[in-house]
Amino acid sequence: KAILKTSLIGTDVRYYSDLESTNNTAREIATRSPEGTVVIAETQRKGRGRMGTEWQSIPGGIWLSLILKPSVPLDNVSKITLVAGIAVTNTLRNAGIDARIKWPNDVLVRGRKICGILTEVSAEVEKVDYVILGIGINANVKLVDFREDIRLNSTSISNEIGKVINRTAFIASLLYELEQQYIMFKTRKFTDIIDEWINLSDTIGKEVKIKTPNKLIEGKAVGITENGAIVVLDRNNERQEIIAGNCRYRN
Ligand code: BTN
Repeated sequence: KAILKTSLIGTDVRYYSDLESTNNTAREIATRSPEGTVVIAETQRKGRGRMGTEWQSIPGGIWLSLILKPSVPLDNVSKITLVAGIAVTNTLRNAGIDARIKWPNDVLVRGRKICGILTEVSAEVEKVDYVILGIGINANVKLVDFREDIRLNSTSISNEIGKVINRTAFIASLLYELEQQYIMFKTRKFTDIIDEWINLSDTIGKEVKIKTPNKLIEGKAVGITENGAIVVLDRNNERQEIIAGNCRYRN
């Protein structure tokens, strides 16, 4: 606790050696836990990714979920995911790693994924009850331990800097960045958040191919909206806003 400089995020830390998914455990304890509670596991048996994908959570990684209770309308929640991406990216950059955000919220290094974020919300009548912010970082993961299809698109902190990091210290600085961003999210003008996100972004300016359940949009990524939707100029130079989907770069 000595190195944890936060006053809200991480006030209560629940550590497990193995869980199904830290997001599931966080959800189970959310209503009776204080805001800022963190659930961490060394490994997850059923780690979950966005859009129903599996998240391989092998030893050496940082697999954690944060319980947040912002009193904001439901449509504000995507902002939390954006600022979380900013926080992870800043923490990695402070550790000397050239991290960038790929829309919607993957963190990449040299085009390979190092972190994924899964936000889940419980809300009643448009008002947020709690938000579970799940963050997975390939910290000291050995790439050979990943399934081949995952390995080809992934990297880890230790793989990037050539040595194993102190995960406790890294988590402490991550929680600090998250707290700073979370405080600012409540007070800051949203255009400032967008500007910072775009600065750290890997996607803006690139030719993209975005798959949603009912369509495929190809074009140039030119910005994001208040809701975290990506703005794409398609072949007919028409502006398309996509709120959720799977993004690939065209080459
Ligand atoms: C993605 O990129 O698809 C999101 C991956 C999110 C993984 C983290 S690991 C901690 C938390 N628990 C889960 O089951 N998933 C998130």
